[in-house]
Order: sequence, then structure tokens, then C-alpha cells
Amino acid sequence: MNHKLFQPFKLGAISLNNRIVMAPMTRCRAGEDDIPTALMATYYAQRATAGLIITEGTPVSLKARGYLWTPGIYTQQQMGGWAQICNAVHQAGGKLFMQIWHVGRISHSSLQPDAGAPEGPTDELSSDTVCFAFDDEGNPGNVSTSQPIAIDGDGIQRIKDEFVQAALNATQAGLDGVEIHGANGYLFDEFLNSITNTRQDEYGGSIENRCRFLLEVVDAVSDAIGAERTGVRISPNGRFNDIPEDPEMEATFTFLSHELNKRGIAFLHINDQGTFGLPSIPEGLIPKIRDVFSGTIILCGGYDAERAKNAIDQGIADLVAFGMPFIANPDLPARLEQGWLLNEPDRETFYGGAEQGYTDYPYYQK
Ligand SMILES: Cc1cc2nc3c(=O)[nH]c(=O)nc-3n(C[C@H](O)[C@H](O)[C@H](O)COP(=O)(O)O)c2cc1C
Repeated sequence: MNHKLFQPFKLGAISLNNRIVMAPMTRCRAGEDDIPTALMATYYAQRATAGLIITEGTPVSLKARGYLWTPGIYTQQQMGGWAQICNAVHQAGGKLFMQIWHVGRISHSSLQPDAGAPEGPTDELSSDTVCFAFDDEGNPGNVSTSQPIAIDGDGIQRIKDEFVQAALNATQAGLDGVEIHGANGYLFDEFLNSITNTRQDEYGGSIENRCRFLLEVVDAVSDAIGAERTGVRISPNGRFNDIPEDPEMEATFTFLSHELNKRGIAFLHINDQGTFGLPSIPEGLIPKIRDVFSGTIILCGGYDAERAKNAIDQGIADLVAFGMPFIANPDLPARLEQGWLLNEPDRETFYGGAEQGYTDYPYYQK
């Protein structure tokens, strides 16, 4: 009998062919007006033997963008592009959730409507942080993030509405559900952290207040498309994008997980940034989250087949997501199951460009 990792799993209303998830990965290859392309459909369809694909971070609005050529989900044309991707993945037997995304303060004015300021929990600028935008000469490249403005009450409501519309657009385009991006130093992570969030209103201060924005968005999106189609990604103890160490980190993420449990969401996806040489999630926190969250947990960050099987055997993960191994191995599930050698990913072609390093990684040849 093959390991559970390779066996089907029921995720809310849908059935997954195995418990291997393709992690969300920004590849910056969208076309004009951030419309998904036919090449993107090929890329995702190649990887459709994953039990579940979670798409690259997909901005919910123009203001939500922090990188060039990330595909959006806020225009009819973008929905048309995503519909092609969904058809290709579904035809190949796969399932896909869209990661819906607002970058918060990690953006540059060249990406913002009317060259405006990015928006975050406060007007504090992240230090030593870059995004991918146009430099002063108008050339694409890594540029320092621009001075943000603090989101006011109207902004909170607008962003909630944008997430709801994005979720409706995504499901209308054929996605099986959405993952709200609460990880990696972007909007919701900035609100969750007790150092970056210095707000004085009901969205700052106490743990309950710092979790409020994300939970309200989860509620609004769940009301619109169903909790069983709504997942959430978090990165406890993450440091990407100038997120500082937070003395209230464990208490915050335990509270948040407990609240998410009450809502019966599709899954809680926990990303460990240790794979990028950043601090890992402290030992003991994932079992604590498991204690308060009885739904589906996806773990991600530095997994191989053995670690993935162990996590499932221990009961701390129901599904395991793979990032970089999926970039380089379109047939990753078969390779993991058979113990075949993996292709190595080429970091030079992670972001931007065309087929090279995207759709040209070879399938395993016996
Ligand atoms: C090229 C690249 C792009 C990524 N883009 C995203 C993203 O859009 N959203 C997200 O939540 N994480 C993103 N990540 C993080 C991955 O989802 C994953 O958490 C990370 O690569 C660790 O998993 P791994 O060790 O299996 O690669 C990205 C990672 C890479 C390498």
C-alpha cells in the first residue's frame, strides 16, 4: 500500500487525487494589463498531478500590487485568462485554489494608481525592502518600497469588498476556491504583527484587534463563496519583508488559528520561512496550532518526501505543500512516489521571462 501522501483526500466539497500541494509562487509572467497568458495555462497544466495547486499570489486590485507582471483578478479580461488556466488544469485532472493577495506597504508608487502611495497598517516605511517595479529611469527592477499611507476606515471596507469581489471573480472563472494571503510580510501579516501594527483603532493593539482585519475578510469571503472554498495562509515567526520578531507571535497565531477553526474554513496553510535561511517556526507551535485547529492543515517550507510523510504520520499535517521542487519538476508527485531524482530549480529564471525555467523543465525519463 502506498503512503497516505499519495492517496486521495476530501477537501470540503472537492476531492484531491493526493495530499501533495503545489505552493503559491509568483513567477511574474502575466501579459499586458496583468492578464494571465496561454503560457501560464501550460505551466499550471504541466503540474496538475498535484492534488491541489495554489496559484501564485494574485492581486485583488491595482492598489494591491507590489510586483510587475503578477496576474490580477479584478477585470473581465483577467478572469478570461484564468478561465483558460482552470480549463487546462481541470482537463488534466487537477484542482486549483487562487491565492488572493494585497501586498500592503510592500509596493512602489510606480505600480500604484496615479503614482500614489502604497497602503499599510501605518505610515511606517519598511526598511531595506525591495519590490519589483519601475526604477527612476522607467526600467523594471528591484526598487526600494515607497513611503506608505495608513489605511483608514473607508480603506478597510474597500479592501474587504475587493477581496470578496476577487473571490467571486475567481470562482466564476472556474477556480475551486481561494487562499487568502495572510503570510510573508504582506497586508494581513503587517496587521498581525505587534511591532509593525501600531494602530490606535480597533484594528491595532490587542491580539484580538490585530487579527480582526484578516478575520473580517475571512468572514466576508466565506459568506460570498462558502467557508469550504476559503483557505488562509500564514507564516508564524516569518521575517520576510521587514517583519520583526514579535514577542506576542505564539499567542497571536494560536488565537488566530482558534478563531479560524470556529469558521470551518477549507484549510489553514502554514509556511515556514526557514528554507530561505530565515528563522523557522519554533518547535512546539505547530502542534499547538493543531490542538486548536481541527480542520485541514497544510504545512510548507523545505519538505521532501520523507519529511512530508512524517508530518502526515504524526498528524500535524493533512496535506504538504512544495514550492521550489514544483518549479523544477512538473511531475513532482510521481518523482516523490517513485523516489526518482529531482531536477534542480534555476533561481535566475524564477521571476519574469518566458518559457525558459518555466515550462521547459523535463519530465522524468526512465
Ligand atoms: C519563486 C517563488 C515565488 C513565491 N511566491 C509566493 C507567493 O506568491 N505567495 C506565497 O505565499 N509564497 C510564495 N513563495 C513561497 C512558497 O510558497 C513556499 O512557501 C516556499 O518556497 C517554501 O517552500 P519550499 O521550501 O518547498 O520551496 C514563493 C517562493 C518562490 C521560490
